[in-house]
Amino acid sequence: MKVSVSTISLSELDVDVLIVPVSSEHVADGLEDLVDAFGSVVERARVDIAGAPGDSLVLYPDSGTAKRVVLVGIGEMSEASLETLRNAAAAGASSAGSVKAETVGISVPDTDLDGDDAAQALVEGFMLGSYRFDRYRTTQEARLPAQRLVIQTSDQDKQVRRGADRGRIVSEAVATARDLVNLSPDEKTPVLLSKAIEKSAKKSGYEVTVWDKELIEEEGMGGLLAVNRGSQDPPTFSVLEWQPEHARNSRPVILVGKGVVFDTGGLSLKPTKGSMDSMKSDMAGAAAVIGAMEAVAKSELPLYVIGLIPATDNRPGETAYVPGEVVKMHSGKTVEVLNTDAEGRMILADALSYAASFYPELVIDLATLTGAAVVALGDIVAATMTNDEKGSEERLAAMVSAGEQSGDRVHPMPMFDEYNEQLKSTVADLKNVGGRSAGSITAAKFLEHFVDYPWIHVDIAGPSFLDKARGYQSVGGTGFGVRLLTQFLQDYAEKKR
Ligand code: BES
Ligand code: MN
Ligand code: ZN
Repeated sequence: MKVSVSTISLSELDVDVLIVPVSSEHVADGLEDLVDAFGSVVERARVDIAGAPGDSLVLYPDSGTAKRVVLVGIGEMSEASLETLRNAAAAGASSAGSVKAETVGISVPDTDLDGDDAAQALVEGFMLGSYRFDRYRTTQEARLPAQRLVIQTSDQDKQVRRGADRGRIVSEAVATARDLVNLSPDEKTPVLLSKAIEKSAKKSGYEVTVWDKELIEEEGMGGLLAVNRGSQDPPTFSVLEWQPEHARNSRPVILVGKGVVFDTGGLSLKPTKGSMDSMKSDMAGAAAVIGAMEAVAKSELPLYVIGLIPATDNRPGETAYVPGEVVKMHSGKTVEVLNTDAEGRMILADALSYAASFYPELVIDLATLTGAAVVALGDIVAATMTNDEKGSEERLAAMVSAGEQSGDRVHPMPMFDEYNEQLKSTVADLKNVGGRSAGSITAAKFLEHFVDYPWIHVDIAGPSFLDKARGYQSVGGTGFGVRLLTQFLQDYAEKKR
C-alpha cells in the first residue's frame, strides 16, 4: 500500500473513500465544515451519528471530489487516544473494503494528540485493519485491500509525514509477523523459517547468519537440542544484526524470540482442542523479533540491535526427550525436565546465555511461554518481568510506556526471590516446571538463571493469537510485539541523543 500525506482541502481530495474521524464535539457543533465540503447530505445524516467511538456512517456526498465519505466516531476530543484513532481508522477500512475502494483518504482530526503520533495511529489502524491472510484461499476474496492511502491534514504537514511513514513501516513489519504466524506449520520448519528471515533481511537491509544443527552442537546448546530430539527437522539458530555506522550504543540491545514452529507438547502431549490446535503460533516471539528488525532497519534507527532466534518444533518422536531426563544447557547449568511441554524456556535459556557473549546493554525476550499468562491477563495484554540488575524500575516503566504508546500493551508481574523455591530439583541445578501456581512468574524465574545483564521478559502467549478479530487486530496472528519493540527501541534511541 502506498501511503502519502496531502494538505489539499477535504472537498478536493479525489479518492474512492474519504474517512473522516469526528468527535462528539464536532457533531454537536453541527459538522459545519463537512456540510460546506460535501453538501446537505451531511446535515441530513447528523441525526444518525453522535460521534461516539464505534459509530460509523457511509455518505454519498452532493459535492466535493470524494466518491464516498465515511464518518467514524472518536468520542470526546480530549479523551481520544491513539488506540481510539487506530480503531476508528480500522472501522473506516472495513467500509472501504466492502466497497472495494482502491484509493482512500483519512483526515487527521482535531485532538490533543501530536500530529505525528495521530498520523501514525491512523495509518496503523487502516493498514492493520485491512490485513487479510489469503495465501491458502483458492477462491477470490470479495474484498481487495486499498492500493493507496492519503493522510489529509491542514497543518503540521511535516510532522504528519514523519508519523505516516513510521505508521507504514511498522504496519508492513506487523504484516510480516502476522504472515509468519498464520503460515501452515509444514511451511515453516526451522530451515524454512531461517530462509524467511534471510528474505526479510535482504528486503529491509539488516544482516543474518543462520547456524545449522552442527554449529548448534558445537556451541553446546543442550536445551535447543533436547527439545529438537523428537523432531524430523533439524533446528536452526538465527543471528540477526543491525549495526548502523551512526549507532548511539557500542554494546548491542539484543532481542530474543521463541521460535517453536510447532508445539505438540512433546511426550507430555497437549490435548488438541483449544490447545494444540493453535500451536503453530508458538513462534510468535520469533515473528515479532523479525518484524521489529525490519522496522528498525527500514527506519534506519541509530541503534546497534541484534536478534536471536532459536527454532525447532516440539514433537513426541521416537527419540524425543523424556520427563526425568537431565539436560546440560549452553550455560553449563543442568536442568531436570519434568514436563516436555515446558520447552520454550529450554530453548530461550540457551539463547539468553549465548547473548551474554555480546556484552549486551540490554536483552529483551518475547515468547509465547505460558498458558498461565493467558489465565492471568487474557488476550488483551502481555505479562512483563525484569531482573534486579541496575535500573530495573526505569526499564519496566519504559516497556509499559512503549506498550501504551504502541497499543501492544504489557502489564508487570513480580519477580520475588521466594518463587525460586518452586524450581528446585532433587537431582539437578533446576527443574523446568514450577507447578500450577504463578506459572508465568516461575517460567520467568527459570530464565533469570541464564541471564547476567539487564533483561526484560515479555510473555505474549495471550495477545499474539486471536480466535476472533477485534478492532484493527485480525483473527489468528496479531503481530503482537512488533509495535512494542519498535516503539521501545525508538524511545531508547531518543534517550541516548
Ligand atoms: N507454548 C506453550 C504456552 C502457550 C499456551 C502459548 C497457550 C500460547 C497459548 C508452552 O510451551 C507451554 O506448553 N507451556 C506450559 C508450561 C507448563 C508445562 C509448565 C503451559 O503453559 O501449560
Ligand atoms: Mn509447550
Ligand atoms: Zn511452547
